Amino acid sequence: MGSRRPGDLLFLVKASAPGKIILFGEHAVVYGRPALAVPVNQVQVDVEVLNSSAQGVWIHAPIIDLHAELSTLPPDHPIGSVILKVLSSPFLPPSPSGRGAGGEDGIEIRISSTIPVASGLGSGAAVSVAIICALSSFLNRPLTNEQINELVFETEKLHHGTPSGIDNTVITYNMPVYYIKGKPIETFKPGKPFTIVIGDTGIPAPTKESVGDVRRLWLRDTNRFETLFNEVAQISTMARHFIETGRPELLGELMDHNHELLQQMTVSSPELDALVHAARKAGALGAKLSGGGRGGNMIALVEQARAESVAQALQSAGAKRTIITEIK
Ligand code: PMV
Repeated sequence: MGSRRPGDLLFLVKASAPGKIILFGEHAVVYGRPALAVPVNQVQVDVEVLNSSAQGVWIHAPIIDLHAELSTLPPDHPIGSVILKVLSSPFLPPSPSGRGAGGEDGIEIRISSTIPVASGLGSGAAVSVAIICALSSFLNRPLTNEQINELVFETEKLHHGTPSGIDNTVITYNMPVYYIKGKPIETFKPGKPFTIVIGDTGIPAPTKESVGDVRRLWLRDTNRFETLFNEVAQISTMARHFIETGRPELLGELMDHNHELLQQMTVSSPELDALVHAARKAGALGAKLSGGGRGGNMIALVEQARAESVAQALQSAGAKRTIITEIK
């Protein structure tokens, strides 16, 4: 990186984006059924954008050991492609400040994150949301949530094949979301807060693979999978009702049932099943895998007073990390 010249004005803009977890409806959501997801604010991506006297757009993401100028990255690079999307976005009106990537000054983008990668916490979408927010406001051309959501969805498609769009939506809006692909976004508010323990198997599991496998099975046995997806749809609908009417304790049984359906879709794993079992044994009201499956995370519904002991039981059963989060 070149050094800044004395007297240069420093513009620095920061943005962050939370992690997310799917409560109900993963996989079925790809086939048009409803799913519920909530932001997880205990983990997040932070992005700083500042001007620099070095020409070009410099990206620093120490967590993935990335230190590179944008034009040297392959066109399908997850971070490079999202930056290019913002810089060439039709949504961006002309910059009133004159700040931009084409001027004399360069741009430096610093990315840090506490969201584990490929574990079902939405790290990819969170990186994209934070970059888009920081970069567009650095350029003094802020975007609406709707525009951000659309840009992130485009990027998700590059990396996940056929994403439902739930990750980008819940992270962009940073609110609990009842999501049906292609339908207007519905956010919801719990009538009473409730506590979830998230347990990470520590096994990275690319969502693209489990989504692709479910698609192959669905094509082979469409009726059976449609029935499974319909059952999941009923669970998501009931879950939203219980959450909104302040009866979250009723979600436990729904989680257990949703987990069974995900097992039938072949997306659980021995490690996920072990954590789900350990959580229930330690007094959780219900538990299920969350996200793409095969690895990544599971969630358990707990009474607040039991959260620590369930988290400890998960760690003893092999969880590499646990997060206790309140949904409110
Ligand atoms: O693994 P995650 O948390 O990114 O969740 C994937 C959820 C799926 O329903 C399996 C896929 C999708 O695009 O909705």
